[in-house]
Amino acid sequence: MNLSVETVPPERRKPKPAADNLGFGNLFTDHMLTMRYQAGTGWQDAAIVPYQPFSLDPAAMVLHYGQAIFEGLKAYRGEDGSALLFRPKDNIRRMNRSAARMCMPSLPEEEVFAALCRLVDLEREWIPAARGASLYIRPTMIATEPGLGVRPAEEYLFFIILSPVGAYYPEGFNPVKIFVTDTYVRAVPGGVGEAKTAGNYAASIIAAVEAKEKGYTQVLWLDGVERRYIEEVGTMNIFFVINGEVITPPLAGSILPGITRDSVLRLVRDWGLPVSERRISIDEVLAAAENGSLTEVFGTGTAAVISPVGLLSYRGKEYPVNGGATGKLAQRLFDELLGIQYGERPDPYGWLVRL
Ligand code: COI
Repeated sequence: MNLSVETVPPERRKPKPAADNLGFGNLFTDHMLTMRYQAGTGWQDAAIVPYQPFSLDPAAMVLHYGQAIFEGLKAYRGEDGSALLFRPKDNIRRMNRSAARMCMPSLPEEEVFAALCRLVDLEREWIPAARGASLYIRPTMIATEPGLGVRPAEEYLFFIILSPVGAYYPEGFNPVKIFVTDTYVRAVPGGVGEAKTAGNYAASIIAAVEAKEKGYTQVLWLDGVERRYIEEVGTMNIFFVINGEVITPPLAGSILPGITRDSVLRLVRDWGLPVSERRISIDEVLAAAENGSLTEVFGTGTAAVISPVGLLSYRGKEYPVNGGATGKLAQRLFDELLGIQYGERPDPYGWLVRL
């Protein structure tokens, strides 16, 4: 596949922000990647172009029926100035699984990987140097064909935009307070819970807003049938440590198959800790919180990295976790993962791609 490149002249490029107060997803780099799909012809017109708005037909099917999928991954600045991508091919593969669920076309994985590397290489000066900061990469696919019939569209736009980011939560690596909702559910068996599709996030906003109004950072979702088994948190997968056992809900179709989740499982297994991917009910978690056997809760995600949970709130009662402080395992995982991601520690799993 040909990739055309149109660059912004150096004097028109945006100033780079200071790395200490970036927030999350508010700033975008000078260039983006776009590629179009047409049924019958396939993917074409791959191009790196100046970052700019698109024009979309008001009948574009994404605006009506929500065929939209995305990914999130990060590039880190290594000590020697190299750009370090963390498990990028896993994100491209996951995007193709989301595409299949949403009846969207499959991406050519090697070509997309090469184009992504080219874009990050072009924008490497945007990778912030500060510890904890990175360049967030957002590949996205939307249905652009105009039409109001409910069916798979025949035209799509794939694009990648880049955003220099700091911590996702205002708390940074400090413990967050989580509200457990049994009013709303995120996904049901047979639904789209494991696809990284925009509608899952749209549906989650009301619960997040209500939790925030009550003073909590995020929502913990329970299963959509019994409202009893733990699923995931708004923007991350969730782990519990009970009596020394590291527990996370299984990938049974309704939760996002997180790449950070997978990395954490790999690390804790290799550290010899007992690990279970199993169903765990909110009653089990709260009973363990009350009898002292719940020693840690933490979330995992690309944006959130490792995010300790210091408190759970359920049905009007608050349950502190580890006295509201960061647990030992969360700290160890945070140090190890960031160490690998910034190229400071050995990468025995071959997770990094160095540009
Ligand atoms: C990520 O962690 O990359 C995500 O996609 C979560 C996002 C919705 C902020």
